[in-house]
Amino acid sequence: VSRAEEPESRIVEAWDRNAGPWTEAVRNQAVESRRVATDQAIVEEVLACPGRRVLDAGCGEGWLARRLAQAGLYVTGFDSSRALGERATTSGGARFVTLSYDEFELRADTLGTFDIVVCNFSLLGERTGPLLAALRAAAPAGRLVIQTLHPLASAGSLPYADGWREESFAGMPGQWQAMPWYFRTLGSWVDQVVSADWAIERLREPLHPDTGQPLSLIIVARAAT
Ligand SMILES: C[S@@+](CC[C@H](N)C(=O)[O-])C[C@H]1O[C@@H](n2cnc3c(N)ncnc32)[C@H](O)[C@@H]1O
Repeated sequence: VSRAEEPESRIVEAWDRNAGPWTEAVRNQAVESRRVATDQAIVEEVLACPGRRVLDAGCGEGWLARRLAQAGLYVTGFDSSRALGERATTSGGARFVTLSYDEFELRADTLGTFDIVVCNFSLLGERTGPLLAALRAAAPAGRLVIQTLHPLASAGSLPYADGWREESFAGMPGQWQAMPWYFRTLGSWVDQVVSADWAIERLREPLHPDTGQPLSLIIVARAAT
């Protein structure tokens, strides 16, 4: 498999290609789970952490960075997609840098030092260890907040086991490029975080207000000493 065909490269490429419809979807509040629960949940969890310097890894078009900046935090967002980065920069409100996880892993001090690092639905690949370790280096006494698809709610009818899945964005308005994503069980998420030297403080599971079903999983961890 050539590098361009690797799932991780296809994820990066798909987000750059999907920058237009994704920005529309986020800014029009087209994703119901975000509208009814997960946006508010991630904002609350970050604001509950001590400190004001935030790094938003895989920040997309920048809504979370802007929201946290409005609440008085100093936010840097980075993302591999130049097209999303342009949209984030145009909207302003925080500092945005075009940088891939691979590049960040090589120089974890390149964006500064932080109190809180946040990944909102941005850990989509199989290899998260090096990024989580680099985020640990960038926030040596800080907190890590990850929001991701809830493993139970997103397993569907497939076996509850780690593995690659395909997202087609069916039902979303506009033209989308499909992308692979890596499904993880709850145990696998815990392993990823703990192996990178983060100590988990709590898990939170935002629910759909009407159905009571879990919409996401939030992991809050602090730098292990
Ligand atoms: C589902 S979007 C979430 C965006 C944003 N965090 C939000 O909540 O709206 C996933 C984001 O992760 C970014 N991403 C995925 N793989 C990446 C990588 N290897 N390096 C940097 N960013 C990456 C994508 O470009 C995309 O913006």
